[in-house]
Amino acid sequence: MTTAILTPAMGAPAVRVPVALGERSYHILIGTGLLSGDEAWAGLPAARHALIVTNDAVGPLYAPSLSTRLAPHYREVHVLSLPDGEAFKDWATMNRIFDALLEKGCDRKTVLFALGGGVVGDMTGFAAACYMRGVPFVQVPTTLLAQVDSSVGGKTAVNHPLGKNMIGAFYQPVRVICDLDTLATLPDRELSAGLAEVIKYGPIADAGFLGWLEEHMDGLRRREPALLRHAIQRSCEIKAGVVGADEREGGLRAILNFGHTFGHAIEAGLGFGVWLHGEAVAAGMVMAADLSERLGLGTPGLCARLSALIARAGLPTRGPTLGAAEYLHHMRVDKKAEAGDIRFVLIEGLGRAVVRPAPDDVVAACIDAHCG
Ligand code: NAD
Ligand code: GLY
Repeated sequence: MTTAILTPAMGAPAVRVPVALGERSYHILIGTGLLSGDEAWAGLPAARHALIVTNDAVGPLYAPSLSTRLAPHYREVHVLSLPDGEAFKDWATMNRIFDALLEKGCDRKTVLFALGGGVVGDMTGFAAACYMRGVPFVQVPTTLLAQVDSSVGGKTAVNHPLGKNMIGAFYQPVRVICDLDTLATLPDRELSAGLAEVIKYGPIADAGFLGWLEEHMDGLRRREPALLRHAIQRSCEIKAGVVGADEREGGLRAILNFGHTFGHAIEAGLGFGVWLHGEAVAAGMVMAADLSERLGLGTPGLCARLSALIARAGLPTRGPTLGAAEYLHHMRVDKKAEAGDIRFVLIEGLGRAVVRPAPDDVVAACIDAHCG
């Protein structure tokens, strides 16, 4: 259930989406003017030190506002700016967070604030999980992808040279604060990448939401605030429900990886960073939808419908030509595979996902049909 609150700076209501995880429960706040108003920042854990972790692209835009917001609550507010990019999501960069915490004399009550996209959020969360065996952290996501996905649910990680997100921990934030205003500066390509993760919530959990996205995709790309707010709220509600039921991905949480198995193969096959994650997931969802249809799971027409929506979101509907054998190879070494068995998230009736294996020849036919 969600409740409306008032954001005094803008006079517009912000929304709170609860993530119910017992003593680790928290709220996702979604609204405009949150970085320029006080309400979102009240009631956070008390401490002497706060450390804002951001990057060289986002910091100059939003770190001054965040520092101002935190000043009444923390005696010392520090800012650490990391280099921008997935290439810096590694141990060496994360060590800079520990260096800053130790150099500033930060104790075990220190609160970390992750100001940026999924890269900053994943690294700051992992640093928070490790520093003095765990300090509180707040997610302040500034990309659409981070607002609808990576900031929620407690997956934190850094990359290893041998694999993406291979070193990490489940560690929940104490609050997630999504200020829609930050999306104004997001490049179009990044907005579209975030829309891929928004779209995925329709087929896996809410057929009505898929219809709503079809109705409003053009307005979302124009960044109309009321539409963005609804899309982010509904995405967060669905994700919060899944995470609340299966925090550590014992089963259900895997449905959030719809399109990601094929997408991972695209990212790994081309080299990480050539396609954005959301772009690879978009083409991957088309293949996964086709696979669901070919396996007779009761979703005729889903592939064409999803493909049309994905194109309208400014995303690729076809994967690169790597060859089915290379796709299958990368899918087998994905960390979502179990003992080399590829597990696909498939749509079994609109709004309902299942996770199961599929015959290689049917998977290869889908790849051939939707690549190149
Ligand atoms: P990102 O963090 O690299 O951000 C994308 C780009 O946008 C960067 O250059 C960033 O500096 C810039 N940027 C961010 N906010 C901006 C703003 N408001 N205005 C202008 N520029 C801005 O990428 P992302 O797509 O946010 O996240 C991808 C990362 O998230 C990957 O590392 C992925 O593994 C991770 N991820 C994690 C989860 C999870 O559950 N933890 C889920 C999905 C993805
Ligand atoms: N992004 C998938 C998950 O959080 O499980």
